[in-house]
Amino acid sequence: PVSGTGSAGMEACLVNLLEKEDKVLTLVNGIFGQRMADISQRIGARVDTLEFEWGTPVNLDAVRKKLSDNKYKLVAAVHAETSTGVRNPVPEIGKLVRESGALFLVDAVTSLGGIPVNVDDWNIDALYSGTQKCLSCPPGLSPVTFSERALNVILNRVTKVPNWYLDLSMIIKYWEGKKRVYHHTAPVNMLYALYQALMLIFDEGLANVFERHRKVHEMLVNGLNRLGLEMLVDKPYRLPMLNAVKIPEKVDDEWFRGELRNRYKIEIGGGLGPLNGKIWRIGLMGYTAREENVEKLLTAFNDLLN
Ligand SMILES: Cc1ncc(COP(=O)(O)O)c(C=O)c1O
Repeated sequence: PVSGTGSAGMEACLVNLLEKEDKVLTLVNGIFGQRMADISQRIGARVDTLEFEWGTPVNLDAVRKKLSDNKYKLVAAVHAETSTGVRNPVPEIGKLVRESGALFLVDAVTSLGGIPVNVDDWNIDALYSGTQKCLSCPPGLSPVTFSERALNVILNRVTKVPNWYLDLSMIIKYWEGKKRVYHHTAPVNMLYALYQALMLIFDEGLANVFERHRKVHEMLVNGLNRLGLEMLVDKPYRLPMLNAVKIPEKVDDEWFRGELRNRYKIEIGGGLGPLNGKIWRIGLMGYTAREENVEKLLTAFNDLLN
């Protein structure tokens, strides 16, 4: 894992795979797609973005057209867009990207440990995640993975990676090889935490963990619907671990979330960017994805809305 939170993993993938003037396509339907484009621009890459309405998934026809009209070194997409609750169609995007010859970079910060993430089957060349979402670990590490194709690109760069701390060509010598070379002090406390978190998932069984996320999500959505609330995202693209619900017109967003925090000790997220004041984001991630939490939240919502 990269030492640092999910954004460090994001930055590590981009600074190592991209050089100045490289052509990149970023698929944007939320904050984290925007962040990928921002980092790519800072590297000096030539960045195209395809934008989609927040709350809707990446449209495959638009991607297909863009890839047939342009040649990219890398295409970047977010699997679970935490800012909107959308699951983007990563397997289908991966197919299109592989056919185009570009590398495929995926953000799995919120998806890993909550829904399947099949890196090789989905033609993913580079992927990063984070420890504090569905892995239920403290924040501080970003698990990353690279395909042979991506590794070749990293090892055959023309210019040095501009960021010393995240330079994988140096860190690889620390991670592997007979004679390990010190690069930076590894946050070993976090490695122990991640080990333990993964063991808990292993003990429960990955399929059971996914099923638990799915079940509590369904329970939450049914409960919210009974209270007359509507979800932002169409059913096939909803994330189980991040539930975006539309705020009813008569309800004051700040007041409602404040009451939830102070009276019920429950924190939910507000809307970001264009969805600010329009949605609430309810996380059911990892350890918190439990029926008793859904029950508690629905009781609080019922009290506050009536
Ligand atoms: C999809 C996604 N990508 C990237 C990040 C950034 O991760 P971090 O906040 O751990 O740096 C987040 C954080 O919420 C995220 O949800």
